[in-house]
Amino acid sequence: MIRNFSIEKNVPLGPLTTLGVGGEADHFLSATSEEAILFGFDFARENNLDVFVLGGGSNVLISDEGFRGLVIKVDLLGRAFDRLDENTFNLICAAGESWDDVVEEAIRRDLQGIECLSGIPGSVGGTPVQNVGAYGQEVSETIHSVRCLDRSTGKIVDLSNGQCGFSYRKSIFNTTAKEKFVVLSVNFRLNIAGKPKIVYADLQKHFDERIPTLRETRDAVLAIRAAKSMVIDLNDPNSRSAGSFFKNPIVTLEFLNQLDVELRKSGRLKFEEVVPSFRIDDSHAKIAAAWLIERAGFHKGFRKGNAGISANHSLALINCGNAGAAEIVALKEEIQESVNREFGISLEPEPIFVGF
Ligand code: EPU
Repeated sequence: MIRNFSIEKNVPLGPLTTLGVGGEADHFLSATSEEAILFGFDFARENNLDVFVLGGGSNVLISDEGFRGLVIKVDLLGRAFDRLDENTFNLICAAGESWDDVVEEAIRRDLQGIECLSGIPGSVGGTPVQNVGAYGQEVSETIHSVRCLDRSTGKIVDLSNGQCGFSYRKSIFNTTAKEKFVVLSVNFRLNIAGKPKIVYADLQKHFDERIPTLRETRDAVLAIRAAKSMVIDLNDPNSRSAGSFFKNPIVTLEFLNQLDVELRKSGRLKFEEVVPSFRIDDSHAKIAAAWLIERAGFHKGFRKGNAGISANHSLALINCGNAGAAEIVALKEEIQESVNREFGISLEPEPIFVGF
């Protein structure tokens, strides 16, 4: 028998997001059990309401009009670390757990695999959706499987790593099976006393070729992120963001070469400069979107009304005060148009837009 769970009305969504922008949800359920999630979907079906599933709120932009349906906030808690064999720990973690608390516990237990993902805001359930990655590591490297509710059948399924279809900032959860699944828990496999992954230039520079401990790696990532206002801090107005607002665009090497030639020809790239990019395979590279944004005329600290660009990282759009979602969107569009005009590249937003 399914119990009755309390559905709240007219709940402001802005405070539940790191950007702090947007209107109210007509109906809202904080779901602390899988049963509550099922109840929420039943309630929505009976009342003919759309459902939006909210996690940690660190990668969403809520519209000023809010959301006319039911918002189910996944507040499932619980984590279990269990030794699997000589080298491996199994970690099962409920979707509503704070991601960074989980990373901290893994480091405390000397478990390797997610150390570079320190300081990332949001909850565990969001990590497989956009295949969270930073400083050369992605969650797809340690995710064993993801336990989900299939919204179309009401059944609970376990998806293996392969079934999740991970790539840069992508999985089936935000592409082919968008809104089909609700992540309930994630099963990670972590390495006992493994060496930290130091492949990102910022980290290599920090440690100057020395191999650090997992704890030192976490501390370095936290310091690097904080210096870029990429760690949520109430005392740092530049951290009132959804992290990177755009993905780093993936282009062919041919396009990159041509861009390089054109920029030099028109004097927009000096002899000693290069377009900052990172090779991802034999024929593609990711270009630093932050650089494109700056070169398209938006300096760090740029402001347009109450929306702005972080003074410490030009890829983060920030709420400078009482910004409305419309102001954030206007700035986003201005940036996209300028980058497109200047470089012929379409910047794709990273956050999820809700209620637009
Ligand atoms: N850059 C600038 N201006 C800036 C910042 C960066 O021109 O203000 C250029 C520089 O050339 C720099 C390059 O961009 O070398 C890369 O910068 P950074 O190392 O800060 O990384 P990013 O590509 O801007 C990505 C992720 C971040 C992640 C970092 C570290 C995306 C969209 N973003 O940013 O993830 O923390 O790498 O790995 O892939 C997020 O997704 O929300 C996020 C914060």
